[in-house]
Amino acid sequence: MLGSLLFKLVRSSGGVRERLWKLAYETFPRVLPDADWWFMNYGYEPTDAERATYGTLDESLFQWRSRAMYHYLAARAHIEGKEVLEVGCGRGGGLRHVAETMRPASATGLDFAASAVAFCRKNHAGIPVNFVEGNSMDMPFSDESFDAVLNVESCHAYRDQAQFIREVVRVLRPGGQLVLVDVRAQWNWDPLYEWLSEAGLEVRENADITSNVVAAIELDEPTKRALIKKRVPFWLRGLFTEFAGNVGSQLHERLKNGEIQYRRLVAIKPA
Ligand SMILES: C[S@@+](CC[C@H](N)C(=O)[O-])C[C@H]1O[C@@H](n2cnc3c(N)ncnc32)[C@H](O)[C@@H]1O
Repeated sequence: MLGSLLFKLVRSSGGVRERLWKLAYETFPRVLPDADWWFMNYGYEPTDAERATYGTLDESLFQWRSRAMYHYLAARAHIEGKEVLEVGCGRGGGLRHVAETMRPASATGLDFAASAVAFCRKNHAGIPVNFVEGNSMDMPFSDESFDAVLNVESCHAYRDQAQFIREVVRVLRPGGQLVLVDVRAQWNWDPLYEWLSEAGLEVRENADITSNVVAAIELDEPTKRALIKKRVPFWLRGLFTEFAGNVGSQLHERLKNGEIQYRRLVAIKPA
């Protein structure tokens, strides 16, 4: 009940929503300090064609489908030799996967939650990734300093998403790519396409991956439910079940009935 109410509040709009998201993301690493919990996305079940094109992952790894969300997104940006930025890196596991398996020239993770950045610095020490605290709408980086920007299930929470897109264009080099996955309603996708176009980015791929995410949610349900029971404090379980998008959550229901769509975008800054 409380979980569902809070979930509705963070899905509302404006500065209140931004403050609630920040409070939530600052709180998670404090109440869930588990060093092996590296991901906060709903997971992705790859197709056979993707497995053939981009390779397979070790399915015995903890949260492998959340890792797959990154793998099959970042692979589309052909990361090798590139300077990569992730905006909204959370607990850092996705960028770590990219750094360890895709040979970028450099990898930088940005997040506005100080506790998430502290978690990343502690738990991914020794991995060649630089974790930085900062806001997606005012990034602490010079113009044209990256070849690829990753954004995983994060930008729906930004107060001014048009400004975020302008920032992406500023920090990308000509020819650079934005690769993004997110979940939102169609009425909320339309403005994003407009902001991409206004900022001069060319959309090269726009795929509805809702069915892959629903499949991941359903396949991961027993593991996730057991994990929440074991590791999440009882007073946070209701809220957490909504955030984690378990079977029966509002998120799962709305993905299945088509009210919201999970999409993947690849956009290029013209050379
Ligand atoms: C759902 S989590 C996803 C984390 C990570 N990408 C993953 O897939 O595991 C969203 C992340 O975006 C970050 N975030 C939200 N608003 C942000 C903002 N305005 N600037 C930077 N990071 C932000 C949150 O702190 C959180 O870590």
